[in-house]
Amino acid sequence: MNSAHNRVEVLHGVNLDTLGRRDPEVYGTFNLAELETQINRWGRKLGLLTTCFQTNHEGEFVEYLHELPERADGVVINAGAWTHYSWAIRDALEVAAVPAVEVHISDVEGREDWRAKSVFDGLVLEKISGEGEQGYHRALERLKLELGV
Ligand code: DQA
Repeated sequence: MNSAHNRVEVLHGVNLDTLGRRDPEVYGTFNLAELETQINRWGRKLGLLTTCFQTNHEGEFVEYLHELPERADGVVINAGAWTHYSWAIRDALEVAAVPAVEVHISDVEGREDWRAKSVFDGLVLEKISGEGEQGYHRALERLKLELGV
């Protein structure tokens, strides 16, 4: 049993499994496996126990969020396009009531208008966007601060 309160889930939603072949000018050239390896490396250095998960199925994402309180002390969430319209995922994150940081690889505020809207407004500690891979490092640092580890 881990009593350190340092467990962080890093959740990726729809289409984020296509990193590496998806518009590299916007999303970079790294694939999801490489990103997750880097996240786990950063996590270890920060004293966090990171676990990564990705799905393209909204219901599965919602069910994963339902189990979050048993699994995690904090969460980094990049829900992909669901960010902009899935009130079901917002509700599930609210139910989970786990400290959350929202991350977007691209600058969602500087792209199409519809990407500037997030269903997670008011629910997350911070929204980080447009910092590429580094955004996840900052999100982990923010959660480390929040969790006091
Ligand atoms: C994204 C931005 C979203 O608008 C988009 O639908 C994604 C990825 C990002 O990481 O930049 O799938 O969340």
